[in-house]
Amino acid sequence: MKPRILIVEDERTALKALSLLLSDEGYQVLKAETGEEGLRLALREQPDLILLDIRLPDLDGLSVLERLRNGPCKAAVIIMTANSTSSNAIRATKLGAFDYVSKPINDEHLVVLIQRALEYRALEKALRDLHTNATQAPNIPNIVGHSLSMQEVYKLIGRVSSSGATVLITGESGTGKELVANAIHEYSSRAQGPLVKVNCAAIPDSLLESELFGHEKGAFTSALTRRIGRFEKAQAGTLFLDEIAELPLGLQAKLLRAIQERVIERLGSNTPVPVDFRLITATAHDLNGEIAAGRFREDLYYRLSVVTIALPPLRQRKEDIPLLVQRFLSRSERPITLREDALEKIMAHQWPGNVRELENTITRAIVLAPGGVITPECIQFHPHSAGSSRSRLDNISFRDGYWNVIRKVEEHLLRAALEEARGNRAEAARLLSIHRRLLYQKMEEYGIR
Ligand SMILES: Nc1ncnc2c1ncn2[C@@H]1O[C@H](COP(=O)(O)OP(=O)(O)OP(=O)(O)O)[C@@H](O)[C@H]1O
Ligand SMILES: [Mg+2]
Repeated sequence: MKPRILIVEDERTALKALSLLLSDEGYQVLKAETGEEGLRLALREQPDLILLDIRLPDLDGLSVLERLRNGPCKAAVIIMTANSTSSNAIRATKLGAFDYVSKPINDEHLVVLIQRALEYRALEKALRDLHTNATQAPNIPNIVGHSLSMQEVYKLIGRVSSSGATVLITGESGTGKELVANAIHEYSSRAQGPLVKVNCAAIPDSLLESELFGHEKGAFTSALTRRIGRFEKAQAGTLFLDEIAELPLGLQAKLLRAIQERVIERLGSNTPVPVDFRLITATAHDLNGEIAAGRFREDLYYRLSVVTIALPPLRQRKEDIPLLVQRFLSRSERPITLREDALEKIMAHQWPGNVRELENTITRAIVLAPGGVITPECIQFHPHSAGSSRSRLDNISFRDGYWNVIRKVEEHLLRAALEEARGNRAEAARLLSIHRRLLYQKMEEYGIR
Protein backbone atom coordinates (compact mmCIF):
# COMPACT_ATOMS: atom_id res chain seq x y z
CA MET A 1 0.00 0.00 0.00
CA LYS A 2 1.18 3.50 -0.81
CA PRO A 3 2.16 5.50 2.25
CA ARG A 4 -0.16 8.43 2.84
CA ILE A 5 1.09 11.91 3.42
CA LEU A 6 -0.96 14.82 4.69
CA ILE A 7 0.28 18.28 3.69
CA VAL A 8 -0.87 21.17 5.83
CA GLU A 9 0.05 24.42 4.05
CA ASP A 10 -1.92 27.61 3.56
CA GLU A 11 -0.17 28.91 0.48
CA ARG A 12 -2.00 27.40 -2.45
CA THR A 13 0.92 27.39 -4.89
CA ALA A 14 3.25 25.78 -2.41
CA LEU A 15 0.59 23.22 -1.51
CA LYS A 16 0.09 22.35 -5.14
CA ALA A 17 3.80 22.03 -5.88
CA LEU A 18 4.39 19.77 -2.90
CA SER A 19 1.39 17.68 -3.70
CA LEU A 20 2.64 17.14 -7.27
CA LEU A 21 6.11 16.29 -6.10
CA LEU A 22 4.91 13.71 -3.60
CA SER A 23 2.39 12.03 -5.84
CA ASP A 24 5.14 11.75 -8.45
CA GLU A 25 7.18 9.99 -5.81
CA GLY A 26 4.36 7.47 -5.46
CA TYR A 27 2.73 8.69 -2.29
CA GLN A 28 -0.95 9.16 -1.72
CA VAL A 29 -1.46 12.82 -0.85
CA LEU A 30 -4.01 14.50 1.41
CA LYS A 31 -4.26 18.28 1.61
CA ALA A 32 -5.31 20.81 4.22
CA GLU A 33 -5.07 24.61 4.16
CA THR A 34 -5.69 25.37 7.82
CA GLY A 35 -4.58 23.94 11.12
CA GLU A 36 -8.07 22.85 12.12
CA GLU A 37 -8.66 21.10 8.83
CA GLY A 38 -5.26 19.43 9.16
CA LEU A 39 -6.13 18.13 12.62
CA ARG A 40 -9.45 16.79 11.42
CA LEU A 41 -7.91 14.99 8.45
CA ALA A 42 -5.07 13.64 10.57
CA LEU A 43 -7.52 12.03 12.96
CA ARG A 44 -9.92 10.77 10.35
CA GLU A 45 -7.44 9.51 7.77
CA GLN A 46 -4.55 8.45 10.01
CA PRO A 47 -1.82 9.34 7.47
CA ASP A 48 1.65 7.86 7.79
CA LEU A 49 3.33 11.22 7.66
CA ILE A 50 2.37 14.87 8.03
CA LEU A 51 4.17 17.79 6.42
CA LEU A 52 3.24 20.69 8.60
CA ASP A 53 3.73 24.39 7.91
CA ILE A 54 4.56 26.39 11.02
CA ARG A 55 2.77 29.56 10.03
CA LEU A 56 -0.89 28.87 9.39
CA PRO A 57 -3.83 31.30 9.32
CA ASP A 58 -5.66 29.86 12.31
CA LEU A 59 -3.53 27.73 14.61
CA ASP A 60 0.24 27.73 14.36
CA GLY A 61 1.96 24.52 13.35
CA LEU A 62 3.47 23.89 16.75
CA SER A 63 0.12 23.89 18.51
CA VAL A 64 -1.23 21.60 15.81
CA LEU A 65 1.71 19.33 16.55
CA GLU A 66 1.06 19.49 20.25
CA ARG A 67 -2.57 18.52 19.80
CA LEU A 68 -1.62 15.72 17.43
CA ARG A 69 0.80 14.32 19.96
CA ASN A 70 -1.80 14.38 22.68
CA GLY A 71 -4.16 12.45 20.47
CA PRO A 72 -4.07 9.00 18.92
CA CYS A 73 -2.31 10.08 15.73
CA LYS A 74 0.89 8.11 15.17
CA ALA A 75 2.06 9.89 12.02
CA ALA A 76 5.64 11.04 11.67
CA VAL A 77 5.67 14.83 11.45
CA ILE A 78 8.02 17.01 9.46
CA ILE A 79 7.78 20.73 10.15
CA MET A 80 8.22 23.31 7.38
CA THR A 81 9.47 26.68 8.45
CA ALA A 82 10.48 29.88 6.73
CA ASN A 83 12.70 31.13 9.50
CA SER A 84 14.47 28.13 10.87
CA THR A 85 15.49 29.52 14.20
CA SER A 86 16.87 26.86 16.44
CA SER A 87 14.15 27.64 18.96
CA ASN A 88 11.42 26.61 16.54
CA ALA A 89 13.33 23.52 15.59
CA ILE A 90 13.98 22.60 19.16
CA ARG A 91 10.42 23.24 20.25
CA ALA A 92 9.27 21.13 17.32
CA THR A 93 11.52 18.18 18.14
CA LYS A 94 10.60 18.51 21.79
CA LEU A 95 6.99 18.15 20.76
CA GLY A 96 7.87 15.00 18.88
CA ALA A 97 8.44 16.21 15.33
CA PHE A 98 10.72 13.94 13.40
CA ASP A 99 12.59 16.75 11.73
CA TYR A 100 12.12 20.12 10.11
CA VAL A 101 12.91 21.61 6.73
CA SER A 102 13.44 25.24 5.97
CA LYS A 103 11.77 27.09 3.15
CA PRO A 104 12.42 27.42 0.31
CA ILE A 105 12.21 23.70 0.24
CA ASN A 106 14.81 21.63 -1.53
CA ASP A 107 12.82 18.85 -3.19
CA GLU A 108 15.51 16.21 -3.08
CA HIS A 109 16.25 16.86 0.55
CA LEU A 110 12.57 16.65 1.41
CA VAL A 111 12.11 13.36 -0.45
CA VAL A 112 15.03 11.77 1.37
CA LEU A 113 13.80 13.07 4.69
CA ILE A 114 10.35 11.63 4.07
CA GLN A 115 11.78 8.24 3.21
CA ARG A 116 13.83 8.29 6.33
CA ALA A 117 10.92 9.34 8.53
CA LEU A 118 8.70 6.60 7.11
CA GLU A 119 11.38 3.98 7.59
CA TYR A 120 11.97 5.11 11.12
CA ARG A 121 8.29 5.04 11.91
CA ALA A 122 7.92 1.54 10.49
CA LEU A 123 10.80 0.33 12.57
CA GLU A 124 9.44 1.98 15.69
CA LYS A 125 6.15 0.30 15.08
CA ALA A 126 7.75 -3.10 14.50
CA LEU A 127 9.67 -2.76 17.73
CA ARG A 128 6.53 -1.64 19.58
CA ASP A 129 4.56 -4.59 18.26
CA LEU A 130 7.29 -7.00 19.21
CA HIS A 131 7.24 -5.49 22.59
CA THR A 132 3.56 -5.58 23.25
CA ASN A 133 3.59 -9.22 22.16
CA ALA A 134 6.10 -10.03 24.82
CA THR A 135 4.78 -9.86 28.34
CA GLN A 136 5.39 -6.74 30.40
CA ALA A 137 9.01 -5.78 30.22
CA PRO A 138 10.10 -3.75 33.21
CA ASN A 139 13.20 -2.14 31.76
CA ILE A 140 12.11 -1.08 28.32
CA PRO A 141 15.28 -0.09 26.53
CA ASN A 142 14.87 3.58 25.88
CA ILE A 143 17.21 4.65 23.21
CA VAL A 144 16.75 8.26 22.24
CA GLY A 145 17.87 9.87 19.01
CA HIS A 146 16.77 9.99 15.41
CA SER A 147 19.96 10.99 13.63
CA LEU A 148 20.73 9.06 10.49
CA SER A 149 23.49 7.13 12.23
CA MET A 150 21.22 6.13 15.10
CA GLN A 151 18.58 5.02 12.65
CA GLU A 152 21.15 2.68 11.16
CA VAL A 153 21.69 1.37 14.67
CA TYR A 154 17.95 0.78 15.16
CA LYS A 155 17.77 -1.08 11.88
CA LEU A 156 20.62 -3.32 12.92
CA ILE A 157 19.04 -3.97 16.29
CA GLY A 158 15.82 -4.88 14.55
CA ARG A 159 17.59 -7.21 12.18
CA VAL A 160 19.82 -8.97 14.65
CA SER A 161 17.27 -9.42 17.39
CA SER A 162 15.23 -11.79 15.31
CA SER A 163 18.31 -13.89 14.54
CA GLY A 164 20.49 -15.48 17.15
CA ALA A 165 23.63 -13.99 15.67
CA THR A 166 26.59 -13.06 17.83
CA VAL A 167 26.90 -9.29 18.06
CA LEU A 168 29.86 -7.05 18.78
CA ILE A 169 28.98 -3.53 19.92
CA THR A 170 31.71 -0.93 19.60
CA GLY A 171 31.79 2.74 20.49
CA GLU A 172 33.44 5.23 22.78
CA SER A 173 32.64 5.22 26.44
CA GLY A 174 29.16 6.49 27.21
CA THR A 175 27.70 6.02 23.74
CA GLY A 176 25.06 3.56 24.90
CA LYS A 177 26.59 0.14 24.26
CA GLU A 178 24.90 -1.44 27.22
CA LEU A 179 21.61 0.11 26.23
CA VAL A 180 21.89 -1.51 22.81
CA ALA A 181 22.74 -4.86 24.36
CA ASN A 182 19.62 -4.57 26.50
CA ALA A 183 17.52 -3.73 23.46
CA ILE A 184 18.78 -6.68 21.44
CA HIS A 185 17.91 -9.02 24.25
CA GLU A 186 14.52 -7.43 24.90
CA TYR A 187 13.47 -7.61 21.29
CA SER A 188 14.77 -11.12 20.71
CA SER A 189 12.95 -14.40 21.08
CA ARG A 190 15.07 -14.92 24.20
CA ALA A 191 13.49 -11.98 25.99
CA GLN A 192 11.82 -14.37 28.42
CA GLY A 193 15.18 -15.85 29.28
CA PRO A 194 17.84 -14.21 31.43
CA LEU A 195 20.18 -11.43 30.31
CA VAL A 196 23.43 -12.14 32.13
CA LYS A 197 26.04 -9.37 32.16
CA VAL A 198 29.71 -9.70 32.92
CA ASN A 199 32.06 -6.74 32.89
CA CYS A 200 35.40 -8.35 32.06
CA ALA A 201 37.29 -5.28 33.28
CA ALA A 202 35.62 -5.22 36.67
CA ILE A 203 36.47 -8.76 37.79
CA PRO A 204 40.08 -9.59 38.69
CA ASP A 205 41.66 -12.04 36.23
CA SER A 206 42.09 -14.65 38.94
CA LEU A 207 38.35 -14.79 39.60
CA LEU A 208 37.06 -14.30 36.09
CA GLU A 209 37.46 -17.89 34.99
CA SER A 210 35.37 -19.40 37.75
CA GLU A 211 32.91 -16.52 37.45
CA LEU A 212 32.34 -17.41 33.80
CA PHE A 213 32.66 -21.17 33.83
CA GLY A 214 31.75 -22.04 37.40
CA HIS A 215 33.52 -24.63 39.50
CA GLU A 216 32.99 -27.87 41.35
CA LYS A 217 33.42 -28.15 45.05
CA GLY A 218 37.12 -28.54 45.79
CA ALA A 219 38.28 -27.33 42.38
CA PHE A 220 40.69 -25.06 44.25
CA THR A 221 41.28 -24.37 47.90
CA SER A 222 38.67 -21.69 48.33
CA ALA A 223 36.04 -23.58 46.29
CA LEU A 224 33.98 -24.73 49.23
CA THR A 225 30.83 -25.37 47.28
CA ARG A 226 29.89 -25.95 43.68
CA ARG A 227 29.29 -22.77 41.80
CA ILE A 228 27.32 -22.24 38.59
CA GLY A 229 29.09 -19.89 36.17
CA ARG A 230 27.61 -17.13 34.05
CA PHE A 231 27.53 -19.25 30.89
CA GLU A 232 25.18 -21.66 32.61
CA LYS A 233 23.19 -18.84 34.17
CA ALA A 234 22.59 -17.45 30.69
CA GLN A 235 20.93 -20.71 29.65
CA ALA A 236 18.17 -19.99 27.09
CA GLY A 237 18.99 -16.30 27.36
CA THR A 238 21.69 -13.83 26.44
CA LEU A 239 25.23 -13.50 27.74
CA PHE A 240 26.62 -9.98 27.56
CA LEU A 241 30.38 -9.75 27.95
CA ASP A 242 31.25 -6.09 28.40
CA GLU A 243 34.79 -4.72 27.92
CA ILE A 244 35.72 -7.85 26.03
CA ALA A 245 39.17 -6.48 25.17
CA GLU A 246 40.04 -7.04 28.83
CA LEU A 247 39.51 -10.79 28.66
CA PRO A 248 42.86 -12.47 29.36
CA LEU A 249 44.30 -14.55 26.49
CA GLY A 250 43.81 -17.87 28.30
CA LEU A 251 40.12 -17.19 28.74
CA GLN A 252 39.84 -16.03 25.15
CA ALA A 253 40.72 -19.56 24.08
CA LYS A 254 38.11 -21.00 26.43
CA LEU A 255 35.49 -18.55 25.20
CA LEU A 256 36.25 -19.48 21.61
CA ARG A 257 35.66 -23.12 22.42
CA ALA A 258 32.40 -22.34 24.22
CA ILE A 259 31.17 -20.45 21.16
CA GLN A 260 32.22 -23.12 18.71
CA GLU A 261 31.13 -26.19 20.58
CA ARG A 262 28.40 -24.77 22.77
CA VAL A 263 29.67 -26.70 25.74
CA ILE A 264 31.68 -25.65 28.75
CA GLU A 265 33.36 -27.41 31.62
CA ARG A 266 33.26 -26.19 35.18
CA LEU A 267 36.64 -25.79 36.83
CA GLY A 268 37.59 -29.05 38.49
CA SER A 269 35.40 -31.14 36.22
CA ASN A 270 35.75 -32.86 32.86
CA THR A 271 32.07 -33.25 32.26
CA PRO A 272 30.95 -31.09 29.37
CA VAL A 273 27.84 -29.05 30.11
CA PRO A 274 25.80 -28.00 27.07
CA VAL A 275 25.09 -24.28 27.06
CA ASP A 276 22.51 -22.46 24.98
CA PHE A 277 23.20 -18.74 24.96
CA ARG A 278 23.20 -15.78 22.61
CA LEU A 279 26.43 -13.88 22.89
CA ILE A 280 26.76 -10.11 22.80
CA THR A 281 30.10 -8.46 23.49
CA ALA A 282 31.09 -4.81 23.73
CA THR A 283 34.26 -2.80 23.75
CA ALA A 284 35.37 0.80 23.69
CA HIS A 285 38.79 -0.29 22.46
CA ASP A 286 39.95 -0.86 18.95
CA LEU A 287 40.11 -4.64 18.77
CA ASN A 288 42.18 -4.57 15.60
CA GLY A 289 44.82 -2.69 17.53
CA GLU A 290 44.64 -5.25 20.32
CA ILE A 291 45.04 -8.03 17.75
CA ALA A 292 48.05 -6.30 16.21
CA ALA A 293 49.57 -5.96 19.67
CA GLY A 294 49.06 -9.67 20.29
CA ARG A 295 46.60 -9.10 23.11
CA PHE A 296 43.52 -10.35 21.36
CA ARG A 297 42.96 -13.52 19.34
CA GLU A 298 42.08 -12.88 15.75
CA ASP A 299 40.05 -16.08 15.41
CA LEU A 300 37.95 -15.05 18.40
CA TYR A 301 37.44 -11.61 16.92
CA TYR A 302 35.94 -13.14 13.76
CA ARG A 303 33.58 -15.21 15.85
CA LEU A 304 32.49 -12.23 17.91
CA SER A 305 32.01 -9.79 15.08
CA VAL A 306 29.51 -11.72 12.99
CA VAL A 307 27.44 -8.55 13.25
CA THR A 308 29.08 -5.34 14.44
CA ILE A 309 27.09 -2.40 15.68
CA ALA A 310 29.26 0.71 15.85
CA LEU A 311 27.80 3.46 18.00
CA PRO A 312 28.73 6.95 16.79
CA PRO A 313 30.12 9.44 19.30
CA LEU A 314 27.64 12.11 20.35
CA ARG A 315 29.66 14.92 18.74
CA GLN A 316 28.96 13.31 15.36
CA ARG A 317 25.20 13.33 15.87
CA LYS A 318 24.52 16.59 17.61
CA GLU A 319 21.03 16.68 16.19
CA ASP A 320 20.16 14.06 18.82
CA ILE A 321 21.13 16.34 21.68
CA PRO A 322 17.82 18.22 22.08
CA LEU A 323 15.87 14.96 22.36
CA LEU A 324 18.33 13.52 24.83
CA VAL A 325 18.27 16.69 26.91
CA GLN A 326 14.51 16.55 26.89
CA ARG A 327 14.58 12.96 28.08
CA PHE A 328 16.94 13.72 30.92
CA LEU A 329 14.99 16.83 31.94
CA SER A 330 11.81 14.82 32.11
CA ARG A 331 13.28 12.87 35.01
CA SER A 332 13.26 15.97 37.15
CA GLU A 333 10.71 15.86 39.92
CA ARG A 334 10.05 19.59 39.88
CA PRO A 335 9.02 21.54 36.81
CA ILE A 336 12.10 22.68 35.01
CA THR A 337 12.80 24.83 31.98
CA LEU A 338 15.91 25.14 29.92
CA ARG A 339 16.82 28.61 28.77
CA GLU A 340 17.67 28.85 25.11
CA ASP A 341 21.17 30.20 25.73
CA ALA A 342 21.79 27.20 28.02
CA LEU A 343 20.82 24.85 25.22
CA GLU A 344 23.13 26.73 22.89
CA LYS A 345 25.96 26.14 25.32
CA ILE A 346 25.12 22.45 25.36
CA MET A 347 25.00 22.27 21.57
CA ALA A 348 28.41 23.90 21.24
CA HIS A 349 30.17 21.39 23.50
CA GLN A 350 32.05 18.38 22.08
CA TRP A 351 30.95 15.79 24.68
CA PRO A 352 34.03 13.58 24.95
CA GLY A 353 32.16 11.49 27.54
CA ASN A 354 29.23 11.16 25.13
CA VAL A 355 25.67 10.56 26.34
CA ARG A 356 26.78 9.63 29.84
CA GLU A 357 28.50 13.00 30.20
CA LEU A 358 25.43 14.77 28.86
CA GLU A 359 23.23 12.86 31.27
CA ASN A 360 25.41 13.77 34.24
CA THR A 361 25.66 17.40 33.18
CA ILE A 362 21.89 17.72 32.91
CA THR A 363 21.31 15.96 36.21
CA ARG A 364 23.69 18.41 37.84
CA ALA A 365 22.06 21.36 36.06
CA ILE A 366 18.65 20.35 37.40
CA VAL A 367 20.01 20.49 40.93
CA LEU A 368 21.68 23.84 40.32
CA ALA A 369 18.79 25.49 38.48
CA PRO A 370 17.63 28.52 40.46
CA GLY A 371 13.84 28.64 40.53
CA GLY A 372 13.63 25.74 38.14
CA VAL A 373 15.27 27.59 35.25
CA ILE A 374 18.45 26.19 33.76
CA THR A 375 20.77 29.03 32.78
CA PRO A 376 24.14 28.67 31.03
CA GLU A 377 25.83 28.93 34.44
CA CYS A 378 24.11 25.68 35.49
CA ILE A 379 25.68 23.84 32.57
CA GLN A 380 29.08 22.95 33.94
CA PHE A 381 31.42 20.85 31.93
CA HIS A 382 34.13 18.73 33.26
CA PRO A 383 37.36 20.77 33.51
CA HIS A 384 38.99 18.44 31.02
CA SER A 385 36.28 18.68 28.43
CA ALA A 386 36.14 22.44 28.77
CA GLY A 387 39.26 22.53 26.68
CA SER A 388 42.14 22.68 29.14
CA SER A 389 44.25 19.73 28.20
CA ARG A 390 45.93 19.62 31.58
CA SER A 391 44.59 20.32 34.99
CA ARG A 392 46.50 22.97 36.85
CA LEU A 393 47.78 22.58 40.35
CA ASP A 394 49.06 26.10 40.84
CA ASN A 395 45.70 27.66 41.55
CA ILE A 396 44.38 25.13 44.00
CA SER A 397 43.29 26.50 47.33
CA PHE A 398 42.21 24.65 50.44
CA ARG A 399 39.12 26.81 50.22
CA ASP A 400 38.00 24.59 47.33
CA GLY A 401 37.27 21.97 49.96
CA TYR A 402 39.04 18.74 50.71
CA TRP A 403 37.44 16.51 48.08
CA ASN A 404 37.76 19.03 45.27
CA VAL A 405 41.45 19.41 45.99
CA ILE A 406 41.93 15.64 46.12
CA ARG A 407 40.15 15.27 42.82
CA LYS A 408 42.29 17.92 41.16
CA VAL A 409 45.45 16.28 42.42
CA GLU A 410 44.27 12.86 41.34
CA GLU A 411 43.39 14.07 37.86
CA HIS A 412 46.73 15.81 37.61
CA LEU A 413 48.57 12.61 38.54
CA LEU A 414 46.68 10.59 35.94
CA ARG A 415 47.30 13.08 33.18
CA ALA A 416 50.94 13.48 34.06
CA ALA A 417 51.51 9.71 34.04
CA LEU A 418 49.65 9.27 30.77
CA GLU A 419 51.64 12.03 29.20
CA GLU A 420 54.89 10.54 30.45
CA ALA A 421 53.80 7.16 29.04
CA ARG A 422 52.77 8.82 25.76
CA GLY A 423 49.23 7.52 26.16
CA ASN A 424 50.27 3.93 26.79
CA ARG A 425 47.89 2.97 29.60
CA ALA A 426 49.68 -0.13 30.75
CA GLU A 427 52.84 1.93 31.10
CA ALA A 428 51.01 4.76 32.86
CA ALA A 429 49.53 2.30 35.34
CA ARG A 430 53.02 0.91 35.99
CA LEU A 431 54.42 4.41 36.54
CA LEU A 432 51.69 5.09 39.08
CA SER A 433 52.02 1.61 40.62
CA ILE A 434 48.31 1.01 40.28
CA HIS A 435 46.36 -1.71 38.58
CA ARG A 436 45.41 -1.09 34.97
CA ARG A 437 41.74 -1.51 35.83
CA LEU A 438 41.92 1.21 38.42
CA LEU A 439 43.53 3.49 35.86
CA TYR A 440 40.73 2.83 33.36
CA GLN A 441 38.14 3.42 36.01
CA LYS A 442 39.71 6.72 37.03
CA MET A 443 40.20 7.82 33.43
CA GLU A 444 36.53 7.28 32.85
CA GLU A 445 35.64 9.14 36.01
CA TYR A 446 37.60 12.17 34.85
CA GLY A 447 36.63 11.85 31.22
CA ILE A 448 40.23 11.31 30.12
CA ARG A 449 40.72 9.41 26.93
N1 LIG B 1 20.72 6.97 22.90
C1 LIG B 1 20.55 7.09 24.23
N2 LIG B 1 19.36 7.47 24.72
C2 LIG B 1 19.17 7.61 26.05
N3 LIG B 1 20.09 7.39 26.97
C3 LIG B 1 21.30 7.00 26.56
C4 LIG B 1 21.60 6.82 25.16
N4 LIG B 1 22.88 6.42 25.04
C5 LIG B 1 23.37 6.35 26.29
N5 LIG B 1 22.43 6.69 27.20
C6 LIG B 1 22.63 6.76 28.66
O1 LIG B 1 23.99 7.10 28.88
C7 LIG B 1 24.57 6.31 29.88
C8 LIG B 1 25.72 5.50 29.32
O2 LIG B 1 25.23 4.50 28.46
P1 LIG B 1 25.88 3.03 28.42
O3 LIG B 1 26.21 2.57 29.80
O4 LIG B 1 25.00 2.16 27.62
O5 LIG B 1 27.21 3.40 27.64
P2 LIG B 1 28.45 2.47 27.26
O6 LIG B 1 28.70 2.68 25.83
O7 LIG B 1 28.19 1.09 27.74
O8 LIG B 1 29.63 3.15 28.07
P3 LIG B 1 30.96 2.47 28.70
O9 LIG B 1 31.83 2.05 27.57
O10 LIG B 1 31.55 3.61 29.46
O11 LIG B 1 30.49 1.35 29.55
C9 LIG B 1 23.46 5.45 30.43
O12 LIG B 1 22.91 6.04 31.57
C10 LIG B 1 22.45 5.40 29.32
O13 LIG B 1 21.16 5.23 29.81
MG1 LIG C 1 29.15 -0.02 29.22
